[in-house]
Amino acid sequence: MPSASATPASAATPAVEVRGVVKRYGAVEALRGIDLTVNTGEMFALLGPNGAGKTTLFSILATLRAPTEGGARVLGHDVVAERDAVRRAMGIVFQEPAIEQRLSGRDNLLLMGLLYGLPTAAARRRADEILGQLGLAEAADRPAKTLSGGQRRKLELARALVTDPKILFLDEATLGLDVDARRGFWGHVRGLAAAGCTVFFTTHYMEEAEVADRIALIDQGRIVALDTPRALKARLGGGVIRLKTDDDTRARAWLVEKNFTPEAEAGAELMLLHADPAAVLPELLRHLPVKVLRAEVKEPSLEDVFLKLTGRKLAGDEAPAALGAGGAPGGGRGKGGRP
Ligand SMILES: Nc1ncnc2c1ncn2[C@@H]1O[C@H](COP(=O)(O)OP(=O)(O)OP(=O)(O)O)[C@@H](O)[C@H]1O
Ligand SMILES: [Mg+2]
Repeated sequence: MPSASATPASAATPAVEVRGVVKRYGAVEALRGIDLTVNTGEMFALLGPNGAGKTTLFSILATLRAPTEGGARVLGHDVVAERDAVRRAMGIVFQEPAIEQRLSGRDNLLLMGLLYGLPTAAARRRADEILGQLGLAEAADRPAKTLSGGQRRKLELARALVTDPKILFLDEATLGLDVDARRGFWGHVRGLAAAGCTVFFTTHYMEEAEVADRIALIDQGRIVALDTPRALKARLGGGVIRLKTDDDTRARAWLVEKNFTPEAEAGAELMLLHADPAAVLPELLRHLPVKVLRAEVKEPSLEDVFLKLTGRKLAGDEAPAALGAGGAPGGGRGKGGRP
């Protein structure tokens, strides 16, 4: 990395630059050499399964942990040597609640503004402005603990916006929310990105990652692919056939014999990539020596891309608790993301 100067970020400076970052926790190598660049104003997703290293990279960029090797710059500032400059420019939303549950929405934001040195009147103005922008006016005078899960998550976002950050870091910011609440949350974040704020977020939900301009797929501490959602899916070429039969083992053996290559670990069904799935499916249905219970042809998803690249599924089979209405935030997943 170039020397840690206090050069201000210009339009030409990438919002995030990560070079050769390795992070070890004792014997655990959580990051194994990460390189990536995020452009100013870009919405960038880090997508990967539990334990891939997402929170670790997020924490390094947000100056909460230091890399073991390599370095990173945020808005031109070194995350270790110029930690305070990075902190002044960033907003951060953790998976775990950071808002004070007993305080009202407005007081939470006011407190944040005062902590960052805004004069009281300005902090109050800013608080009401943001509550309005995020559709949280009714949360202004209510204790945070009385808000819905979705409102509370938006209040976390509001808190991160008080200081008008140039870059937002979000770590699994919508875990535990239902689909509608997530959509509302990401709608606001997209608006911020459109207004020029760079957004770096982690998720292990592919449908969340799809809102990003570019996605880095991370697995076991390495970036396995980095591109736009469309280009990532185009890598598979063609489409996907999914089959459920009354004897998948026999079906798989038959497919292999006929020179189809079913993916190894597609869960409780068979998955085939094919250049022209709609053309080949009728042939399969006619000739497979087993009873086909369900057959589906679809566009490749990011899940399929991940499976193809790593041989593993993106979302562990234990994960869906987080999607269910009222699912406990955190879902019992071990977190190591707090400073
Ligand atoms: N403080 C720590 N001490 C030891 N090991 C850690 C620590 N924090 C994380 N790890 C390990 O580093 C690896 C990456 O963890 P990390 O929290 O970055 O993953 P993640 O992608 O955020 O996972 P999740 O989706 O579950 O949040 C895991 O093997 C984890 O057990
Ligand atoms: Mg994590």
